Amino acid sequence: MAKDTLTITDNRTGKQYELPITDDTIKAIDLRQIKVKDDDFGMMTYDPAFMNTASTRSKITFIDGEKGILQYRGYPIEQLAEKSNFLETAYLLIYGELPKKKQYEEWVHNITYHTLIHENIKKLMDGFHHDAHPMGMLVSIVGALSTFYVDAKNIDDPESRKKQTFRLISKMPTLAAFAYRHSVGRPYVYPDNDLSYCANFMSMLWKMTEVQYQANPTLVKALDVLFILHADHEQNCSTSTMRGIGSSRVDPYSAIAGAAAALYGPLHGGANEAVLRMLDEIGSKNNIPSFIKDVKEGKGRLMGFGHRVYKNYDPRASVIKALADEVFEVTGRNPKLDIALELERIALEDEYFVKRKLYPNVDFYSGLIYQAMGFPVDMFPVLFSIPRTVGWIAQWEEMLKDPEQKIARPRQIYDGSGVRDFVVMSKRG
Ligand code: CMC
Repeated sequence: MAKDTLTITDNRTGKQYELPITDDTIKAIDLRQIKVKDDDFGMMTYDPAFMNTASTRSKITFIDGEKGILQYRGYPIEQLAEKSNFLETAYLLIYGELPKKKQYEEWVHNITYHTLIHENIKKLMDGFHHDAHPMGMLVSIVGALSTFYVDAKNIDDPESRKKQTFRLISKMPTLAAFAYRHSVGRPYVYPDNDLSYCANFMSMLWKMTEVQYQANPTLVKALDVLFILHADHEQNCSTSTMRGIGSSRVDPYSAIAGAAAALYGPLHGGANEAVLRMLDEIGSKNNIPSFIKDVKEGKGRLMGFGHRVYKNYDPRASVIKALADEVFEVTGRNPKLDIALELERIALEDEYFVKRKLYPNVDFYSGLIYQAMGFPVDMFPVLFSIPRTVGWIAQWEEMLKDPEQKIARPRQIYDGSGVRDFVVMSKRG
């Protein structure tokens, strides 16, 4: 008998089946041959929330959740955070290799010179209510971009995909900053292409009447590192959404609108916003024990803790915790840090969290840094979307080129009523 196979005995029929194993995985479709009667549909797997289903092969991001390892294209996240910058890492994620000098310069040039947005987008932005959530604005406007760049429909044309890639990565900060300026009632600030990616974003957010906005270099660097850490995270909820929507072969702006909407939720990219609200609610270190007690009784979650994949310290959280010190030296210490540190200390010693392998994730400390830098809390998921756009594009590109991929279409187990005859309303009792 071949070694790399799995033998299944169907006890309903006594029949045996031998399924090939590749990469510790069997193909769900190979189960379809398992039937009781010839005209049966065949066996399926049932996996709500995709707890144990690989939906793709990927060469982009590797995570070992048990060991707390994260690598982009084989490079450890700690090395990228220390030695790379966001745009170089973005190139790596999308093209698979670190750029040579000329490639890097061209890449940065192309990203830098696509930062402007069509003037009509400002009118769209103006239509939002003054207190609209900036993430809601971003989700809508990025989808609307598909109506401005109709060539984006040509998803089989590599040149068109390249152009949309430049546009998306360069325009996301502009859209994000405009959404912020709208929400605080300030005039929009146009991009300054003499500045770096992050410095330009900060200028569009905070420039007032000065000729050129001078961002603090430590804060520019910190934002750049945070963007590196958030750039990709393999098949998470928003990335799976990107791939799922993209598999219908729609343009990338429409797919990114869907991915960003998935990111908005409090269990995903909205968690950093939820952490800050939770820290505000706790208010002081004295209230931590009763808060932890409530969490353990199921009355809410410790936001910023736990992860579907990491059953160890999230490596991104370690980098962020170290970064916090550098930022707080410039901005002054965020008073909520003490509550966060104490929460972490108590949770890491508490049997409830230890038993469930719940550790701080990327969102536990990122919000504290963003707040210290001056970002309002509802901008946090927006700050996540900007770098994650890179991951979404890399994964979309990989999906389009993968001959094994088709339109995403899960199966279901139908649990509803059997066939019945329609009853007219007058006879429904
Ligand atoms: N606080 C308290 N209990 C928790 C938490 C938490 N943050 N996370 C998980 N648990 C418990 C959960 O109640 C369950 O307990 P039991 O076995 O007694 O029912 C057990 O741990 C397993 O939880 P789960 O919900 O089955 O795990 P999951 O893999 O479906 O959820 C998660 C992963 C990230 C949604 C979840 O840990 C969570 O809700 N965390 C808080 C939100 C958060 O910080 N999200 C950011 C994730 S990282 C950034 C990103 O990916 O966007």
